[in-house]
Amino acid sequence: MRTFSDRALAIQPTGVRKMFDLAGDDVISFGLGEPDFQPPLVAINAFHQAMLDGRNKYTTTAGLPALREKIAQTWSSYQEGMTDQNVCMTMSGTNALLNLFMTLINPGENILLPEPYFPLYGPDATLVGGESKYYPCLFENEFIPKISDLESLVDDKTVAILYNFPSNPTGGTLDETQRDDLLEFAKKHDLWIISDEVYDRIVFDEEHVSFMGTGYDKLMVVNSFSKTFAMTGWRIGYIISTNLEAMKQVIKIQYYISACSNDAMQYAVLEAIEKANDYPSMMAEEFKQRCSLIVDRLNSMPGVQCHKPKGAIYVFPKVNVPNMTSEEVALEILKDGVLCSPGSAFGPSGEGHLRFAYTISQEDIARGMDKVEATLKRLNSA
Ligand SMILES: Cc1ncc(COP(=O)(O)O)c(C=O)c1O
Repeated sequence: MRTFSDRALAIQPTGVRKMFDLAGDDVISFGLGEPDFQPPLVAINAFHQAMLDGRNKYTTTAGLPALREKIAQTWSSYQEGMTDQNVCMTMSGTNALLNLFMTLINPGENILLPEPYFPLYGPDATLVGGESKYYPCLFENEFIPKISDLESLVDDKTVAILYNFPSNPTGGTLDETQRDDLLEFAKKHDLWIISDEVYDRIVFDEEHVSFMGTGYDKLMVVNSFSKTFAMTGWRIGYIISTNLEAMKQVIKIQYYISACSNDAMQYAVLEAIEKANDYPSMMAEEFKQRCSLIVDRLNSMPGVQCHKPKGAIYVFPKVNVPNMTSEEVALEILKDGVLCSPGSAFGPSGEGHLRFAYTISQEDIARGMDKVEATLKRLNSA
């Protein structure tokens, strides 16, 4: 009997959620990736005020021109000359991604996706009838893809490559040379680049290197205020591109997804950009310290090797416990009161890894690491 659409039946809940749903309230949680900060107070006040001022209506589909103009200006160090026309507001990065998959991929075409991955990419491809081709970003290569792997996957049905940096789940990021190698690959095969840069303001020692400003016309950048201003629950993000023809298509699709973004909230985000522009750096400074703490602790544990990420809010250590999968290890750790995500939730290359989001205080990180250490010692001596 036919029940639901093939596309609904083809996708599954993500493994990160599965673990989260198993955990009680009293665990130390390195589970979900959301900053443990509140949005800047000026933005909360502006949100409230905008509602009182009657900003409770539809806006144009692409969003408030003043906000879009401001966002374009925030990119001027990468790319001069962009205006409100280059930006479309969305109801989150998640929404921006789905929009771009709908805008760029036909049924039967394929997209190259990083693996380990942010778990929405593959299902998004499925939802638009496309195929996902995964390229590995391995620990051995500091989580950076190899062009030879990409060359072996690309075919005449490949229309796009998605890259995410700093990465969820690995924390890996690109330097300029690595970015240019990816760019050359995309140019050679005439591919769209979907660049997921939602962690661009949470970087530690070096400035974020963007695809924006490289002059490539088939580039669509995804961004979000979820991480930049700790607004995960507000659901607001955007797509930015120098390609105005592509932006017209994006805006047309966005109308059918959500008509527009939230009216009052767009004023609040504008206020945050204008009055709390140093907020992301303040958070990044704290994340940097937590990152050092957790990396040092993990590297001192039996069977664990951990790279030190240059950005985002995750570590993705290799955790070797003989004869146990990453899911089994994560479940043992959960029994001892700590929630983390098994690497396998982010794709096959994630097997043998765990993901820890360091979105809790340094004291809680230290307490959590004590417990993880005890679990790993127990498992390794069993
Ligand atoms: C790599 C990456 N892209 C996009 C998103 C989507 O963010 P949001 O939908 O909250 O804007 C996330 C959220 O965790 C993410 O990690």
